[in-house]
Amino acid sequence: MNLTVHGIGRLLTMSGAPLRAAAVVIRNGRVAWTGPESDLPRDAPPARLDVAGACVVPGFVDAHTHLLYAGVRREEFAARLAGRAYDGGGIATTVTATAAATDAELLDLASGRAALALSHGTTTMEVKSGYGLTVESELRLLRLADELRTRTPIGLEVTYLGAHVVPPGRDRGEYVDEVVATLPAAVVAGARWCDVFCDEGVFTVEEARRILTAAREAGLGLRLHAEEIAPTGAAGLAAELGCASADHLEHVSTEDARAMAAAGVVGVLLPTVTFSLRSGAWTHAGVLRAAGVELALATDCNPGTSWCESMPYAVQLACLAMGLSVDEAFRAATLGAAHSLRRADIGHLAVGARGDLAVLNAEHEADVVAHLGGAAVTSTVVGGEVRWMS
Ligand code: NIG
Ligand code: FE
Repeated sequence: MNLTVHGIGRLLTMSGAPLRAAAVVIRNGRVAWTGPESDLPRDAPPARLDVAGACVVPGFVDAHTHLLYAGVRREEFAARLAGRAYDGGGIATTVTATAAATDAELLDLASGRAALALSHGTTTMEVKSGYGLTVESELRLLRLADELRTRTPIGLEVTYLGAHVVPPGRDRGEYVDEVVATLPAAVVAGARWCDVFCDEGVFTVEEARRILTAAREAGLGLRLHAEEIAPTGAAGLAAELGCASADHLEHVSTEDARAMAAAGVVGVLLPTVTFSLRSGAWTHAGVLRAAGVELALATDCNPGTSWCESMPYAVQLACLAMGLSVDEAFRAATLGAAHSLRRADIGHLAVGARGDLAVLNAEHEADVVAHLGGAAVTSTVVGGEVRWMS
């Protein structure tokens, strides 16, 4: 809880210019002081972490994951390598595997993924349900997401995604009614957010509007999977409803991007999805930037479109394939992602923020973007405690 991190060659606080030869003092889990090491307060905590000239950044905030699932999708992946396009149909495969897994198995799988994310510098993570698709199984996943807090030091934000797909064989109108009726129970089970997969062949803009409007009445914050597969106007819906985030956005229009910016909707970029889907849709970051949308980054960790727990990998692809600058990408992976979760206490290292930080395996953040296949993080600190070290 009390820690002095020193020997920092370069410190990115995301609130002010980078500092050189710096130190960070964390007391009771919160940042109490940052500045040049030569000015380190005399009463700085005796528990020390010497990072030997490394670059230190705020802990990564992974704003979009589907961490709770069982099984793999090997055949779908092989078909994609052979040229088949993604249509969301594989979600049913994961629903079946997840239903067959015990609670203990699902928690072991999810906590293993969280441990890997921690080793890549993630200190906060959003976790969605969505591989249940019945009232009971969705609530089970929400309860397990809540229980996951006891298995990882990563801070969790839990999202109800009952509207992931219409379950095979169900009437879509009835299923939407069921998702809406489940919202109060989702709140009781620990959800803070509601999300809908609004896209071609999945839920329509009208269905998403109905679910999210009811979710807001139930007290949930709003997020939206928008325009991953095709242009649908879902980003415009996110603006209309004042969602905290619209995610994916491969096919966002300039008009809807402007509406998002005006409404303060954060655009969550998921470059590992674009890469894994082989869709070649790399231009939307430019559309969002030009419209003035605040950007966030996330892994979308899931078994179908992005088997990835690493935020540094998302940062690399954001720079090399989507065209973000290094500065934009690190900001999106920390402060922008925190804003997408409407959290003021994470994603930066100003005094009072949570003492969450990642020590990079480099003197400068640009080097972990350029170093392909390298290990980007050597230690991860959560709430002033070293929770992972290489
Ligand atoms: O964010 N788009 C919807 N959900 C996930 C993928 C789900 C799956 O294919 O299992 C995503 O890409
Ligand atoms: Fe997703």
